[in-house]
Amino acid sequence: MTKPSNLLIANWKMSLSVKQTLTLTKALLKGVSNLGKFLDFSLVLCPTFPALSAVGTLLKKPANIYLGAQDVFWKGHGPYTGEVSAEILNELGVKYVIVGHSERRQYLKETDDMIRHKVMAALQYNLTPVLCLGETYAQRQAGQRDAVLHQQLSRDLAGFSLTSQQNLVIAYEPVWAIGSGKAVSQSDMLQAAEVIEQGLRQMWPSETVSRQVRIIYGGSVDDTNIKTCLNQGRLNGALVGGASLQAAGFIKLLRQVA
Ligand code: PGA
Repeated sequence: MTKPSNLLIANWKMSLSVKQTLTLTKALLKGVSNLGKFLDFSLVLCPTFPALSAVGTLLKKPANIYLGAQDVFWKGHGPYTGEVSAEILNELGVKYVIVGHSERRQYLKETDDMIRHKVMAALQYNLTPVLCLGETYAQRQAGQRDAVLHQQLSRDLAGFSLTSQQNLVIAYEPVWAIGSGKAVSQSDMLQAAEVIEQGLRQMWPSETVSRQVRIIYGGSVDDTNIKTCLNQGRLNGALVGGASLQAAGFIKLLRQVA
């Protein structure tokens, strides 16, 4: 990951049926193949767990489109009803996994300690974690953005570093910008990316941070604002929710990246 091209991650959340997921995937693959021979970005598709296997089968050919999961459990195997391990995700061909999304922090009461274990489990099975960080609106109003980012980073990544083979993606996702139609300004994204970079450098060797960690933005990204998070020095990509659910709209977005 020395000179990162942009990374686009489609987070389909629980928005589509398996059938709709497959229809969307096929339409996207067709749309992406029409964009041209060489695409200077990587695309990760994150369907629900039940659709992973079928989507993975469709993704066999295009080299720069990867399978991603929306969550992972921290244990390897055993009596953990309803959970899915990194090992199983790996078996299905998953390459990326979203960890610590604010919707899980909010609705499933995921703590930083749980998130830290999930990040470590993902890394152990060669999955690249996409760690989501970000402040709530109240925290932002109170001027706490940077403190929140530092705290989440230091807790979610406490006690380990990356080996030379491992990569990490950090998604700066201000909670209030998700699904609201209000993305933050480019200067805001860049400031947050800088804060994240500094926080990482306090924990890990600079070489590891610059070579193996990518920072992206998420929160109401669409085809009108995608360019604000591309090729911006430390910021190289986006986590896209709502705008990735319709093939035509998402292709329009990807055309801005290609
Ligand atoms: P959004 O979601 O693009 O719909 O705001 C982003 C996310 O939750 O990752």
